[in-house]
Amino acid sequence: MSKENEKTLEVYKEKAHLYLSNSIEHDKLDPIKANQKREKLEKLITSNFSSLSEHAKVFEIGSGDGANAKFIQSLGFDVTASDTADDFIKATQNQGLKTIKFNALEDAFPEKYSAVFCWRVFVHFTKEDALDIIQKVYDTLEDNGIFIFNAMNREIKNVDNEWVDFEGEYHMGAERYYHYFSQEDLDNMIQTTNFKIKDFYKDGGNNNNKWLVYVLRK
Ligand SMILES: C[S@@+](CC[C@H](N)C(=O)[O-])C[C@H]1O[C@@H](n2cnc3c(N)ncnc32)[C@H](O)[C@@H]1O
Repeated sequence: MSKENEKTLEVYKEKAHLYLSNSIEHDKLDPIKANQKREKLEKLITSNFSSLSEHAKVFEIGSGDGANAKFIQSLGFDVTASDTADDFIKATQNQGLKTIKFNALEDAFPEKYSAVFCWRVFVHFTKEDALDIIQKVYDTLEDNGIFIFNAMNREIKNVDNEWVDFEGEYHMGAERYYHYFSQEDLDNMIQTTNFKIKDFYKDGGNNNNKWLVYVLRK
C-alpha cells in the first residue's frame, strides 16, 4: 500500500462526513447533469451484470455513500459494500446494505465473487497500487467474473498526479492524492493478468474523455 493512499485514507477517516454532505450539495448544482450521470452508470451496471446468475455475489470496493451498492442490490444481487472510513460504512449500513470495513490494498477478500465494482477509487491509487488491485480482483473472481472500474484520464491533465482539495464541490478541508492514468498504462497492467477487456470507453467532462471506463472479464 502506498504512502499516498494511506495518507488519503486518513483524510477520509476524519472527514468522510463532509464528503457525504458536500457531494449532495454538488449534485444540487446541476441536477440534470447529476441525473444523466447516474442513468449512464446504472445502464453500464445493468447491461454488464445481466449475464450474472440471480443473487450472484457482487463486491464493491470503496462504496462511499453507498448509492452504487444500493442500485446493484436493487437488481437482486447479493452485494457486499465496503469502505475504510467509519462514516461511509455507517451511511451504507443505514441503507440496509451489508457493509464491511475493507482496505482494498491491505485486506484479503472474504470470499469469491461473480463481480467486483470499483468506481472513482483508482483516483487515489499510485500505479503500483492499481496493479496490485487489478491482480487481487482477478484472483478473487470466479471464472468468467466481471470487474468494472474507472480511472481518471491523464489526457485531460497537466500532471501525472497531485494533492487536491477541490474548491466548492467535494471540498473536504484537506488534500487527497489524485493519480491520472493513461489508457496505455492501464492496458499494460491489465495485460499482465489474464483479464480480457470486454468493454472500454472514455466518458465525462467537457469532451467525454475525463474517465477511462473498463469492463474486464476473467
Ligand atoms: C471519490 S470517493 C468515491 C466513492 C464512491 N465509489 C462513489 O463513486 O461515489 C473514493 C473512495 O475510495 C475509497 N478508497 C480509497 N482508497 C481505498 C482503499 N485502499 N481501500 C478501500 N477504499 C478506498 C475512499 O474511502 C472513498 O470512499
